[in-house]
Amino acid sequence: MVKGSGSAVKLVGVAKRYADVVAVDHVDLDVKKGEIFGLLGPNGSGKSTLLKIILALVKPDAGSVNVLGINIEKNPVAIKAQTGYVPEVPRLYEFLTGIEYLDFTADLYGVSTTEKRDRINEYLEALELEGREGDMVSAYSLGMKQKIALISALVHKPKLLLLDEPLGGLDPRSAKIIKDLLRELASKGITTIMSTHILEIAQAMCDRIAIMHGGKLLATGNMKELREKAQLPGSNLEEIFLTLTGTSDIKDVVEALMK
Ligand SMILES: Nc1ncnc2c1ncn2[C@@H]1O[C@H](COP(=O)(O)OP(=O)(O)OP(=O)(O)O)[C@@H](O)[C@H]1O
Ligand SMILES: [Mg+2]
Repeated sequence: MVKGSGSAVKLVGVAKRYADVVAVDHVDLDVKKGEIFGLLGPNGSGKSTLLKIILALVKPDAGSVNVLGINIEKNPVAIKAQTGYVPEVPRLYEFLTGIEYLDFTADLYGVSTTEKRDRINEYLEALELEGREGDMVSAYSLGMKQKIALISALVHKPKLLLLDEPLGGLDPRSAKIIKDLLRELASKGITTIMSTHILEIAQAMCDRIAIMHGGKLLATGNMKELREKAQLPGSNLEEIFLTLTGTSDIKDVVEALMK
């Protein structure tokens, strides 16, 4: 296993402000290769902004960002070529079929024809979309669109996956399939950073978690370490956990993930 064999993403003193709003507040972060890393925090805590900074979609006001050994300022395009990104709300071309959309994305990344066919078919099968790839994207359910977005993020064999709330809209079975897929990719050294506002999802899926609040990383560690930190006097981790919402749907998802 390649886990721990170096940094996939290293941030030092990264900050981003929108007018009066501090979206990301001097964040230091070191995510190791092959890790599944969770950014956990309530709405507006800066998770999506941080993911966009790592992907070079948003330019930070301060700090340094190193992704897969590449300095983001010097070579943002090289980072995009090795990264797969699924945004919070995937925007796909509604008037293409699923397979046309995936073909198009693979072509953008310069994936060869045979490689592209094999990889797309493999993922369509794994995510149980076989037989539906010829339907128009506009006819897909939210969960199906999310799966197509995930395949399009994997089609060029990225070394780093950035997933913004990847389980919203997915049923428990699909969530479990994606958990297993991320684990398999991790065993091949592929790093995933995902955001979620649900503690139990982070716990079920991630090796380590960073708790975000008001743009700051309050604590980073595995679940055990975070729980220990929460016991410390003056720590407000539990308070933040309490702001995280849970619904019965999410309980079903978590139950499936824990199996
Ligand atoms: N493009 C933007 N323009 C202005 N403010 C922004 C912009 N993007 C983010 N913000 C602000 O930055 C803060 C952090 O937003 P961000 O989307 O990163 O939070 P989040 O943790 O992803 O929240 P959620 O759980 O709701 O997705 C919020 O106060 C938000 O309003
Ligand atoms: Mg967000």
